[in-house]
Amino acid sequence: MFYKIAQKVMFQMDPERAHHLALNSLKSTANSPLDCFYAQQFEPAPVECMGVTFPNPVGLAAGMDKDGECIDGFHAMGFGHIEVGTVTPRPQPGNEQPRLFRLKPAKAIINRMGFNNKGVDNLVANLKQAKSGALVGVNIGKNKDTPVEQGKDDYLICMEKVYQYAAYIAVNISSPNTPGLRSLQYGDLLDDLLGSLKAKQKDLAEKHGKYVPIALKIAPDLSPDEIEKIAESLIKNEFDGAIATNTTLSRDGVSGLQNATESGGLSGKPLNALSTLVIKQLSECLKGKIPIIGVGGINSSTDALDKIDAGAAMVQIFSGFIYQGPKLIKDIVDAYRVR
Ligand SMILES: Cc1cc2nc3c(=O)[nH]c(=O)nc-3n(C[C@H](O)[C@H](O)[C@H](O)COP(=O)(O)O)c2cc1C
Repeated sequence: MFYKIAQKVMFQMDPERAHHLALNSLKSTANSPLDCFYAQQFEPAPVECMGVTFPNPVGLAAGMDKDGECIDGFHAMGFGHIEVGTVTPRPQPGNEQPRLFRLKPAKAIINRMGFNNKGVDNLVANLKQAKSGALVGVNIGKNKDTPVEQGKDDYLICMEKVYQYAAYIAVNISSPNTPGLRSLQYGDLLDDLLGSLKAKQKDLAEKHGKYVPIALKIAPDLSPDEIEKIAESLIKNEFDGAIATNTTLSRDGVSGLQNATESGGLSGKPLNALSTLVIKQLSECLKGKIPIIGVGGINSSTDALDKIDAGAAMVQIFSGFIYQGPKLIKDIVDAYRVR
């Protein structure tokens, strides 16, 4: 009820302003009696994924809380994990505004944010301050002005800095809004990146006496052959998880709608079937060796269970959360528990 009212107000505003308003409100009310407006309690439905036991299978997808400012607020809503980021080594402003668009009739979003974030040191300070004990995945990327051939160094810098504070680390090579980034999904560049990150993980595990799993986040715009090659590289480099999928460049299901021709990545309902298909194909290639976190277009508990049936161990939501509110978390957890 409260969310429906808040959503009515926010949907009258520019999407990015509404986003900042929502995050600021969440930040200032977390860990106070005012969190009663969004806090939810429900029975846990534990799930084991990448060697970590999560209290339930529903996480917040990357990009909502890029700088990790609202971890406790999102935790109070009942998320089983919160993926913060994408964070880059240095702060960067992202692309020019406007860069975030609603496609309301399709329950979809187009964004070309371009990894706007306050940098990894700021994120680490926020991770240290979180009080709720939430399981936080940290999604890492490269700065826009770092050449793709040197992109690996940016991932290694971020990994080293966030390692001891993360429940897992997500390696984002699938955003469509950083020029050249998706080229890291292919061939030698991919193998080299995954191999280097694995070696770094081994060093850091020894140094900190703690094993933090690493997962690769992939795009939905991949052919079956490309998915197979990614799966081979994940297995070869002993990655701990895969996150499928990021936003799509496709405009299937939204043509003719207001904002449909904006450039950037499309998320929300129109992405659901494509993302589930990629999960299914990836799962067939991985043969249960590496768990998948399913994300893309989940708008109901049925969508979430479809992703789990396609091979996902757990799921994440972003656009569906904007359109449905915190109730979607509870709906999915309840459906998962009784299935
Ligand atoms: C505004 C916006 C910003 C996003 N930023 C990031 C990001 O920084 N890193 C990332 O890996 N994914 C990012 N994503 C992608 C989401 O994490 C998710 O993979 C995608 O939106 C599909 O899920 P959905 O259909 O539930 O939204 C972003 C999505 C949106 C809508």
